[in-house]
Amino acid sequence: MSAEKEIRRVTTKALDILKKKKVKITSLTAYDFITAKLLDEAGIDIILVGDSLSNVFQGNETTLPVTMDEMIYHTKAVTKGVNRAMVVVDMPFMSYQLGADDGFRNAGRILKETHAAAVKLEGGKRVAETVKKITENGIPVMGHIGLTPQSIHQFGSYKERGTTKKEADEIFEDAKILEEAGAFALVLEKIPASLAKKITSSLNIPTIGIGAGKYCDGQILVTPDMLALNVDFHPRFVRHYSKLASEINKAVKSYIVDVKKGSFPSVDESY
Ligand code: KIV
Repeated sequence: MSAEKEIRRVTTKALDILKKKKVKITSLTAYDFITAKLLDEAGIDIILVGDSLSNVFQGNETTLPVTMDEMIYHTKAVTKGVNRAMVVVDMPFMSYQLGADDGFRNAGRILKETHAAAVKLEGGKRVAETVKKITENGIPVMGHIGLTPQSIHQFGSYKERGTTKKEADEIFEDAKILEEAGAFALVLEKIPASLAKKITSSLNIPTIGIGAGKYCDGQILVTPDMLALNVDFHPRFVRHYSKLASEINKAVKSYIVDVKKGSFPSVDESY
């Protein structure tokens, strides 16, 4: 039996085994019950309720506006659709930046109210104490370094990170610090493939890349992006696996035509 099939429920331990066996870890985002159920049934390992829901679900320009209550509302719907995948929840902007105690309180609230298995938060050295506090109290934390969208106003653009030696060294150091603080996995976003390779081979915990090349232990994409449901956002790291926006457009146009001309509903579709 393959390593993935042996796993009946994806846990932090299962992810460690996948890394050791060099079996790639797969991850996608979901914000609702039906999408989560479809991803889980297809065999995805990690479902992230990303704060990208601020962009792709709520229509905001950045991830900053989404709240704790909104993350919890969406995660409750997601966990109902999942049997096998590990559900990880993004801690929204300002739910952990005030310090370790506040971060721990909010992480605890997320797990208690949603049935998710882990939280994710952005940053390296500056959040190490918070990661330590949360993990020491039994809540798994996924780190997220490189391009961290909650800091977009400080970065000034969504350009890749870690392209200078100084910044690459800082990101590498952050990765080591997060592992030391107890993180069970790290998202590496939009950094050079060579840096992601160095981090991946230096850590015992798995790395999950997005725009970080092929050497990471796993990959994550935002589901509406990879299904081409959200066609306004197409950076080069997003591969389109479907054409959902144009499929939906075609389907809705056909429905409009059928209703207008009276061919829907038919006799068979009536009572
Ligand atoms: O919010 C999100 O969807 C994420 C992924 C892009 C990693 O953080």
